[in-house]
Amino acid sequence: MISEKLVDALNGQIQFEIHSGLIYKAMQAYFEAEDLPGMANWMNIQYQEELAHAEKMFDFVCEAGGRVKMLAMEEPRNEYSSPLEAFETALSHEQIVTTRINDLMDLAQREKNHAAQIFLQWFVTEQVEEEASVGQVIAHLKRIQSDGRGLMMIDQQLANRSFTPIAAE
Ligand code: FEO
Repeated sequence: MISEKLVDALNGQIQFEIHSGLIYKAMQAYFEAEDLPGMANWMNIQYQEELAHAEKMFDFVCEAGGRVKMLAMEEPRNEYSSPLEAFETALSHEQIVTTRINDLMDLAQREKNHAAQIFLQWFVTEQVEEEASVGQVIAHLKRIQSDGRGLMMIDQQLANRSFTPIAAE
């Protein structure tokens, strides 16, 4: 039996994941406007991943007998001063997500909800990958500094990212 407190916390995270998607979709729009289609693609994949995270959590709450409620969301930031600033913002955001997932795990442990702990383990591992993949782009962007050719090369690389549905991972 899942507690009301854990349902509320998971519900909050479902909203946060959807809002994360919105933030990345707005970043995609920024990169589209900057004529950087590879970075736009990377953000679009990130958007799809966030919705998949929300979906996975939605299904768990329903299966556990909880009631999901959709909440109002803030408008995401739509403008950035540079690709580096956008990716650094993405990393800061992912660090917040990691803290939230860890807090959820702590709550599931305090409540001795083993099913929720096993479920949340996937997200704990996923966050390591999420932070690492954004961190790698930031490292590359810092290395090229303001070199336009380097920026185009990174953009081409990021065009290769594709979406993998969670069930197929
Ligand atoms: Fe769903 Fe990027 O964390």
